[in-house]
Amino acid sequence: MIKIINVVGARPNFMKIAPIQRVMSTYENIETVLVHTGQHYDKRMSKLFFVDLQMPQPDIYLNVGSASHAEQTARVMVEFEKVIEREKPDLVVVVGDVNSTAACSLVAVKMGVKVAHVEAGLRSFDRDMPEEINRLVTDVISDYLFVTEQSGLDNLKREGIPGEKVHFVGHVMIDSLIHFAEKAKHSAIMEELKVLPQDYALVTLHRPSNVDGKESFTRLLDAFSEIEKNLKIIFPIHPRSRKMIEQFGLQEKVDNMKNLHLLKPLGYLDFMKLMHNAKLLLTDSGGIQEETTYLGVPCLTMRENTERPVTVEIGTNVIVGSDTELIIKEVRKIINGEAKKGEIPKLWDGKAAERIVAILVGTTP
Ligand code: UD1
Repeated sequence: MIKIINVVGARPNFMKIAPIQRVMSTYENIETVLVHTGQHYDKRMSKLFFVDLQMPQPDIYLNVGSASHAEQTARVMVEFEKVIEREKPDLVVVVGDVNSTAACSLVAVKMGVKVAHVEAGLRSFDRDMPEEINRLVTDVISDYLFVTEQSGLDNLKREGIPGEKVHFVGHVMIDSLIHFAEKAKHSAIMEELKVLPQDYALVTLHRPSNVDGKESFTRLLDAFSEIEKNLKIIFPIHPRSRKMIEQFGLQEKVDNMKNLHLLKPLGYLDFMKLMHNAKLLLTDSGGIQEETTYLGVPCLTMRENTERPVTVEIGTNVIVGSDTELIIKEVRKIINGEAKKGEIPKLWDGKAAERIVAILVGTTP
């Protein structure tokens, strides 16, 4: 029997662990323990996803909540150490690049427990991004590195990670997208919002580099106020960005945009339905760059770089930064039917979790 702890902490982790947990449950020789650190704790940032993704309730909830980076990371480490002591797992699986990812891998490896990092090798080469630090730390101490795209293989090789640890398996987030595509079609969100396919732009925005400074946040809102003259904007807003709008006194600017609809954060299925039918996405998220590439929906990424270059090289993604004029220009192009056409990257076929679990079972003594 192999005992495996699967870790989730924040919203972008849930759709990545769900397929791994599902595949593991079909193996008689695997016992899983699902640990939720509680980095995200709002119902709409967490619980809703467990329901939508048909995930079992976490076996262990660490309840760490929000705090500074040091404090949040430290709280996860203190609590997760107790979990490892008690559960004595053979392996810990972490996904993505959030603080919980780095914290749990650090604890596990120091207690002599093997770590598998799913979504390894991605690099933005921008160390001002907290996620870049989490990615570097996690990759250097992991025993299994599961990679989603060619750039991940190249980066890990350049960093000297031994080739036998690295496995190109595709993307578990795309497994979820494929698995739940039919269910997402039945979401009633478009009727609720009274929108039609291709009738709107879908926006997500929460990176500290965009929303934690008044100037950058204002530049983006300026772009939205131009865009909303021609295209409805649907904007499910992250709690961090909501807080900053209030803090910077930007509420009036937002209220003046009659064609911009601010919503609470949405569940997985509703968001998938809206994304699939959008004219375009405007986002600073990591995962959405990939989901739009898979779906063939145009995506403008409001960042200076991406750690997921395959979405630009062969997908539908265009990097636009926070440059008001460039954003407006690229949106016009899409409205005029000149959107970039993309292809689906290699191995994004819905079977990544199967490959990962087969490798783990085949190599764990
Ligand atoms: C985290 C991840 C980021 C990911 C994002 C997805 C890190 C370093 N960052 O950023 O990579 O893209 O999640 O959402 O791990 N808050 C709530 N309720 C919640 C969670 C957060 O109100 O359930 C508010 C709190 O005020 C908190 C702020 O959002 O201070 C930021 O939360 P935090 O988990 O620190 O980082 P995110 O910005 O969500």
